[in-house]
Amino acid sequence: MEIELSLEFLRVVEQAAIESAKTMGLGDGHKADQAAVESMRKVMDEVPMDGTIVIGEGERDDAPMLFIGERIGAAQHVRGFNFPAVDIAVDPLEGTNLCATGAPGSITVLAASEKGGLLHAPDLYMEKIVVGPSSKGAVNLDAPVADNLHAIAKCLDRDVEDLVIIVLDRPRHEKLIADIRATGARIRLIGDGDLSAGISAAVVGTGVHAVMGIGGAPEGVLTAAALRCLNGEIQARLVVSKPEHQERLEKMGIKDGKRIYKTEDLAPGKKIIFACTGVTDGNLLRGVRFFGEGIRTQSLIVTLEERQVRFVDTVTLDKRPDVKVRFN
Ligand code: FBP
Repeated sequence: MEIELSLEFLRVVEQAAIESAKTMGLGDGHKADQAAVESMRKVMDEVPMDGTIVIGEGERDDAPMLFIGERIGAAQHVRGFNFPAVDIAVDPLEGTNLCATGAPGSITVLAASEKGGLLHAPDLYMEKIVVGPSSKGAVNLDAPVADNLHAIAKCLDRDVEDLVIIVLDRPRHEKLIADIRATGARIRLIGDGDLSAGISAAVVGTGVHAVMGIGGAPEGVLTAAALRCLNGEIQARLVVSKPEHQERLEKMGIKDGKRIYKTEDLAPGKKIIFACTGVTDGNLLRGVRFFGEGIRTQSLIVTLEERQVRFVDTVTLDKRPDVKVRFN
C-alpha cells in the first residue's frame, strides 16, 4: 500500500496546496479551505483505493464533502478491481487564517493507513506535548512543565535556555507560557498550526524542540501519523469540559475521557503514509510559488513500513514551448 499510494497522495496534497495558495491573502479563510477541500476530493477520487474518511471536515450533516464516513477513491466508480481498503485522515488546509492573511505555516495534509490504523478522534480539543526522536520517552504530559523542559534539554545535550518551544497564542495558554518562561526556555508563539509545528519538532535542524499546549484532536491524530514515521513522540489527552463533550465520547465508544494517548494509540497502523505540502512558507516547507512559467511546490511524504522520508520539490510547467526550469 505505501509504495503504490504514496505518490498518488503526494499529488492530492500538492494540488490542494496550489488551489488554496491561489486565495492567499484574500482575507477569506472559508474560500481558502473550500479550494483545498474541493481539490482534495476531486484528486482523491482518482486514487486506486477503497478509501474511507475517518478524520475530515466534520459529520455528514455539517460537511458537503470529505465528511467522516465518506467513501472515496477509484473503487467508488471502477468495478472489477480489488482496490486496497484505506482509512484516510485529512486536514485539507491546516491554518486557514494563515493562508487567508498570507502568514507563514499553512499546509495541506493527508494521512492514510490500513483499516483501523488511525484513531477516530472526536472534534474536541486535546492537551498535547510533542517532541522529536532524541527526547522520545523522556517527557510526560502530567509532569510539571519545568521537569519536561529540563528532560528535553538533557536529551539534546544543551541548556534549557537553548530550547525553542512552540505554543499556540491563545489566552488558555497564559499559565503554560508563564511556566515555560520561568525555566528560561524560549517560546515561539504561533497564530495557528500546531500540526505543522509538531512535524517540525520531529525533524532535526528546524530549530523547534517541542510543541506544548491545547489544540485540535484531529490535528493530534495527524501529528501522530507523521511522528510514527519520523520516530517522534506525542502524548495527548482530550479536553472534556462540558456534559455534551462527555456525551459525544460515549457515542463514539470512548470510555475513559481522561486517558493519555501515546503516539501509537492515536495512529496504531502498521502501514502509514503521511503527506503534506506547504501553502505559505513555514519552518519545514516553502509555500507554493507561482513564477509565470509554472508552479513550484514543496512537500514532505513519509512512510512507516518503507522507512522513507521524501522532501519533494515539484515544478509543474506551463504548456508554453519556450518554458524554462530553474534550479531553485
Ligand atoms: P484550521 O486548520 O481550522 O485553520 O485550524 C488551525 C489550528 O490552529 C490547529 O493547528 C489547532 O490545533 C487548532 O486550530 C486550534 O484551535 P483554536 O483556533 O480553536 O484554538
